[in-house]
Amino acid sequence: MESVLTFHFKYFLLFFLFRLSIKEQENIIGRTKGENSQKIKPLNPTSHLAKTDLKQNGIDIKVVRQSLPYGGIKEHGLVFLSYASNTLKHQKQLDSMCAIQNTNHDQIMDFSTPITGNYWFIPSIRLLKTFFNLI
Ligand code: HEM
Repeated sequence: MESVLTFHFKYFLLFFLFRLSIKEQENIIGRTKGENSQKIKPLNPTSHLAKTDLKQNGIDIKVVRQSLPYGGIKEHGLVFLSYASNTLKHQKQLDSMCAIQNTNHDQIMDFSTPITGNYWFIPSIRLLKTFFNLI
C-alpha cells in the first residue's frame, strides 16, 4: 500500500435519499440493498458503482475501503477511508465522481456534502527496505 485517501462527508442531504423508493435508492448506488447485495444490471451510468468501479489501463482498480458513520439527528456524516497501491487510483475515482473528465457526476454527490479530504502516503515494505538499503 502506498496511498491512503481519507474523506469526511457530511450526510446533510442523505435523508432525502432515504425518502426515495428502494428501487430508486438502488439505482443511485448501483447495488441492491440488504444481504446478498447484487450489482444492478444494466448499471445506471450516474450510479455510484458506475462512477467508482473503474479500470486503469484495462485493469480493474482495486482499493480497500473502510467507512465510519457517526453522529446524531443534528450532525452526522461518514468518515471514509480508502487504501490503494497509488494515488492515481483514488484520483481517477474522485475525478469520475465529480465529472472532471466526463459530463455527469455521481448521483451520490446530490445527497452528501464533502467537507474535507487528504491523501496520506504510507511507504510499502519494499520501499522502506530499498530506502534503508536492506535489499
Ligand atoms: C458520501 C460518501 C460515500 C457514500 C455514502 C458511499 C456509499 C457507498 C455504497 C452504499 C456502496 C455500495 C456498497 C458497498 O460496496 O459497500 C459503495 C461502494 C463503493 N464506493 Fe462509495 N461511498 C461514498 C464515497 C466514496 C468515495 C469518495 C469513493 C472513492 C474515492 C468511493 C468508492 C467506492 C467503491 C470503489 C465502491 C465499490 C464499487 C463496487 O462494488 O465495485 N465511495 N459506496
